[in-house]
Amino acid sequence: MIDVLVTGGAGFIGSNFVRHALAAHPDWRVTTLDKLTYAGRIETLSDVMDHPRHAFVRGDIADDVVATPLVQRSHIVVHFAAETHVDRSIASAGDFIRTDMIGTYVLLEAARNAPHLKRFVQISTDEVYGSVPEGASRETDEIKPRNPYSASKAGADRLAYSYFATYDVPVIVTRASNNYGPYQFPEKIIPLFVTNALDERPLPLYGDGLNVRDWLHVMDHCRAVDLLIERGVNGETYNIGGGNEIANIDLTHRILELTGRPSSLIQPVKDRPGHDRRYALDTSKARAHGWAPQVDFVDGLRETVEWYRANQAWWRPIKEQDAAFRAYYASQYGPARP
Ligand code: NAD
Ligand code: TYD
Repeated sequence: MIDVLVTGGAGFIGSNFVRHALAAHPDWRVTTLDKLTYAGRIETLSDVMDHPRHAFVRGDIADDVVATPLVQRSHIVVHFAAETHVDRSIASAGDFIRTDMIGTYVLLEAARNAPHLKRFVQISTDEVYGSVPEGASRETDEIKPRNPYSASKAGADRLAYSYFATYDVPVIVTRASNNYGPYQFPEKIIPLFVTNALDERPLPLYGDGLNVRDWLHVMDHCRAVDLLIERGVNGETYNIGGGNEIANIDLTHRILELTGRPSSLIQPVKDRPGHDRRYALDTSKARAHGWAPQVDFVDGLRETVEWYRANQAWWRPIKEQDAAFRAYYASQYGPARP
């Protein structure tokens, strides 16, 4: 059996990866290590909690007592755990430094002495390139992160590379574009706007709404990571993008159309400070390894809207009963009930 450690497996992308890994690899034994922060929920993994090849450990990646033995018994580490929301990093960066940078350092230190380790996947982000007014970022481009989230991810991204260059840890780095799909925490634009629209509540669109993101279905991301575990080259970085660039205002109109709600729900609000205008990736390197996104954005967005419509038992407790989420929402968007 191959022992696979997935950090952050109770979050959005990590949970989709755990489910994918268990289904696609009958010889993988998967351990999820997750602190269950506000963004991590045991309910997100409920269908695999009793799976015979899955174990769940609640713990902090920055706690070496918990993390080190888990890394050291693994053949593969897929490191998703992070603080991930740009707006929260702007409000308060400390947790981002602790988890994204120090937590990654703890895992990499453990990986230096892991006897069976074949692959350490550092899940990075296209946001490390900073705002890209035109063209598409290549892996060799300079990184210019511009907010505390992307800066902490950039630190982790290069720290992981340094452990390859210095200590021969078998690191690959992946930089994905904005993901969408089931189980995304309803603070990010797509789940926030879909769930607000379903409830006929305002959709708070930042600035002029013309910022552009490239949307990648979460399952296409999971398939890319899986393939690069097999075929990636240690020390290399791989962009993973969906090739679906769209301005936020156009995305918002599509969500309104899919939910059957009027455009009067759009509420222009103050722009995010330092808001990156555009991200775009050149994905030819990952494609040369045989990966290509499979989910069409029109279908994927429709299915995602349907998922949130059908799975209200997953998100309503967060939006309606979680006092911390409600306090966050009020501080970010004003006192109106989400
Ligand atoms: P998420 O916020 O949904 O989940 C993060 C998970 O990490 C949660 O389950 C949380 O409990 C856990 N976690 C946080 N701090 C921890 C700690 N100290 N120890 C253990 N667990 C901890 O995030 P996501 O959107 O699934 O993102 C996963 C990874 O993918 C992140 O590294 C993120 O930077 C990267 N990424 C995300 C996107 C995107 O669009 N969501 C795009 C590119 C890259
Ligand atoms: P987000 O989902 O936070 O992802 P990221 O900042 O990592 O790209 O935001 C995606 C885009 O949507 C970004 O340009 C900011 C914008 N946005 C809004 O206009 N309103 C919102 O309430 C949120 C959360 C995001």
